[in-house]
Amino acid sequence: MVSQENPQEDNITEPLIDPDNSLPQYSETSSSPSRSIPTPIGSTAFNMSFVFSLLVSVGALLFASTVWYITSTADYLFFIWHPTLMSLMLLMTTNGILVLQKAESRQEKVSSLNFHKALQSIGFLSVIGGFYVIITFKNMGNKEHFESPHGKFGLITFSLILIQTIAGSTLVNFPGVVGGVVKAKAMYKYHRFSGYLLLAFIWLTALGGTQNAWVKAQFDHLWVWLLATGMVFVGTVGRIKSNKLKVW
Ligand code: HEM
Repeated sequence: MVSQENPQEDNITEPLIDPDNSLPQYSETSSSPSRSIPTPIGSTAFNMSFVFSLLVSVGALLFASTVWYITSTADYLFFIWHPTLMSLMLLMTTNGILVLQKAESRQEKVSSLNFHKALQSIGFLSVIGGFYVIITFKNMGNKEHFESPHGKFGLITFSLILIQTIAGSTLVNFPGVVGGVVKAKAMYKYHRFSGYLLLAFIWLTALGGTQNAWVKAQFDHLWVWLLATGMVFVGTVGRIKSNKLKVW
């Protein structure tokens, strides 16, 4: 998202195309301009950040769409909305972090923050829905709550998502609560740090959910879940800027 008015001012440190060869050269394949096909002949070196970004998005989509495949093909139960909504949350929150990781310029930060807010808002609504469904479903069957490791871990993850979302939206929308915009921005680093920890909680909880007997009866291919989680892990860690993670 380079500024159209003045590309220099954006100071993007890792552009998609190597700046030394920023504009690929094109060859004319025909003498007639109307029939020529422009072909890039210069270097178009992709940086690793783009590859990491693909890993994250594809990994998250692989996980979520596998869950949606399971829930759409299994016999209908009200329960299926739990994994369906939790996977939507997983997809949104993971991509919501991804969009902010490489924002450098002011313009990039503004548009990335808008994406972040939109994705995390959908994620927030999804986690509320997913939690409501599993609690209601268990109440319908008079079952005990939070018995399995996934259930216990899920309760912690759910609570942390609520805290993280409320804290983040307070910093952005009501900075006066923490003493003004400058103080709120100085606290972004804590939100960033806890956000990465929470992302790990979210993925571990979701992985636990896939090992439930009902899920395994529908789809028992652990390698798919591990592959998806591994892709997200490698891609997210690969894009972390360590200087942005210093909290003390
Ligand atoms: C990170 C996202 C998730 C969170 C926060 C979460 C949270 C929870 C919680 C708190 C419970 C227990 C509710 C109770 O005992 O009253 C639960 C149960 C359950 N969840 Fe999830 N869940 C998530 C993702 C998933 C996924 C992706 C699946 C399936 C692929 C799944 C499958 C199940 C199943 C089968 C149960 C019922 C059995 C049990 O209590 O372990 N969950 N979940």
